[in-house]
Amino acid sequence: MAIVLIRQDGKLDLWKNAFLGQYPDLPVFHYKEPHPTEEVTMAIVWKHPEGSLAHYPNLQCIASFGAGVDFIIEDNTRPKNVTITRVIDPALAADMSEYVLGTILMYLKNLDTYRQDQANKSWRPKAYTRIADHTIGIMGAGTLGITLANSLLPLGFNVVGWSREAKEVGNFKIFHGQEGKTNFLRQSTILVCLLPLTDATKEILDKETLSQLPKGAYLINVARGGHLAEQQLIPLIDSGHLSGACLDVFQQEPMKQDHPFWDHPKIKITPHVASVSDPASVVPQLVENYYRLEKKMPLVNTVDPSRGY
Ligand code: NAP
Ligand code: GLV
Repeated sequence: MAIVLIRQDGKLDLWKNAFLGQYPDLPVFHYKEPHPTEEVTMAIVWKHPEGSLAHYPNLQCIASFGAGVDFIIEDNTRPKNVTITRVIDPALAADMSEYVLGTILMYLKNLDTYRQDQANKSWRPKAYTRIADHTIGIMGAGTLGITLANSLLPLGFNVVGWSREAKEVGNFKIFHGQEGKTNFLRQSTILVCLLPLTDATKEILDKETLSQLPKGAYLINVARGGHLAEQQLIPLIDSGHLSGACLDVFQQEPMKQDHPFWDHPKIKITPHVASVSDPASVVPQLVENYYRLEKKMPLVNTVDPSRGY
């Protein structure tokens, strides 16, 4: 049995060393070095090259390096009937909450606008809003969404959530399904997308959805670029229906140089860094599943390919 690591972002050695640093005897290889393909039972992947999973005839688990598995589900060349797992990690969830909180406070107090004014030596006081003025609508009340809600509630934010199925967590209202969506959107002055990207959520942030937000609402997309109908965003901002957006994820990453989001004064961009898997906290749970495979035990953090998450 062996593990292969597949990713194309220049971090193969970093991750391999992280595995070996914590588990020196682990049979872990990266896909660019010679490795015994027939022995590989677990592939740990992040935006892997299409077709790369077909090299492993004895694969039993395809694990995402991150929380999302959309790029695995979408790969039609992956061997079917192989269990897919994802990362569920308190550090990843805490990092996401910190990013979103930072973004919200920047928006409430116009802090980013003052950076631009300073660059122009321009003294332009602006009206600000307060925490109590806003309802944060968390689209996707799952692992990250609930952690975010629990970070915002003690600070005095109103919070509502939206999920696929009915659920109660006790401290904030979670709407669900198509019937709950309109009520959820109607009260969200700041919408945070934390949905998984699936057939049901692709381009869910379109004109129809965003038009149901209160006038002047703000959008934060930290889930996947595929959630946003990108061409429909700028008209909603320029018409004044939305006051702006902060986007961490994009249909195409990196974004092309001529993408209109780069230059829009009311769109903030970060390069898919809201919350990044930290080898120190993520390696043990990935290795746990490898040992579970060895012992023929059920895996943890599995996803349901038919739901897409
Ligand atoms: P999760 O625990 O699976 O939660 C997903 C939530 O979305 C659940 O509440 C689920 O509803 C809801 N949902 C799914 N499909 C839905 C639908 N059709 N309608 C309404 N609600 C729906 O996922 P997570 O761990 O919180 O992660 C969410 C996503 O964040 C990941 O998939 C990934 O794409 C993204 N992410 C981005 C970054 C970044 O750096 N930008 C970092 C980490 C993760 P139920 O509760 O009813 O199942
Ligand atoms: C990051 O985008 C993740 O899915 O963990």
